Amino acid sequence: MFKSSPMNLLDVTISTVRLLLVPTSLDIKEECFKEFDKEVTVFMAPVPAKTIADTEEFVNTSRRNMAEGKELVCAIFNKDTKEFLGHAGLHHIDTMTPELGVWIKKSAHGMHYGSEAMQALKKWADEHVDYEYILYPVAAVNVASRKIPESLGGKVIREYEKANGAGKKMSWVDYRIYKKEFGI
Ligand SMILES: CC(C)(COP(=O)(O)OP(=O)(O)OC[C@H]1O[C@@H](n2cnc3c(N)ncnc32)[C@H](O)[C@@H]1OP(=O)(O)O)[C@@H](O)C(=O)NCCC(=O)NCCS
Repeated sequence: MFKSSPMNLLDVTISTVRLLLVPTSLDIKEECFKEFDKEVTVFMAPVPAKTIADTEEFVNTSRRNMAEGKELVCAIFNKDTKEFLGHAGLHHIDTMTPELGVWIKKSAHGMHYGSEAMQALKKWADEHVDYEYILYPVAAVNVASRKIPESLGGKVIREYEKANGAGKKMSWVDYRIYKKEFGI
């Protein structure tokens, strides 16, 4: 829920030290289609797009949801080079328990870009969204991803079994990140 009157999420731009987060658009569809592959999604619920039309549908649905104030889905760019790096989302903004999600293309792993993008979206949420806690579900073995909610003061509140998008059963944990534990 927005703190004040609803804003047009398609106008939001978030700048960090190294990154630029802008509402996703069809401009990045080719790179997104190429980079969001089987390896990147191995610990994720979504599956890679089968065709570029699937990527277009993802972008169009995200933009429709942004226009309706339901979620902020940003393409992540290197601020200096404008290179596309991945996606960062704050979903279910129209509830009291929004959810953070992120993926970074393989060639840009190891730079803490995912963490930087998530810290920025959490800060944006604290400024603009009235929420009880932010949910961060993650496969238990996804160490790089677990570091993100942990750096934001998140606490594990649930452990369970679930299949990833490809149908492989694995252990998952849900982190809850509360505003009062905001530690950056
Ligand atoms: C999760 C993800 C976004 C993290 O991106 P990032 O913040 O840029 O992460 P980095 O690659 O810089 O790694 C961050 C830390 O995890 C560590 N790490 C990375 N892969 C690891 C692995 N397989 N095992 C253990 N540690 C690992 C890094 O060494 C680094 O450690 P440090 O903080 O002590 O320096 C990125 O790995 C990703 O896009 N993965 C695929 C999609 C995905 O799983 N998304 C999350 C779904 S919940």
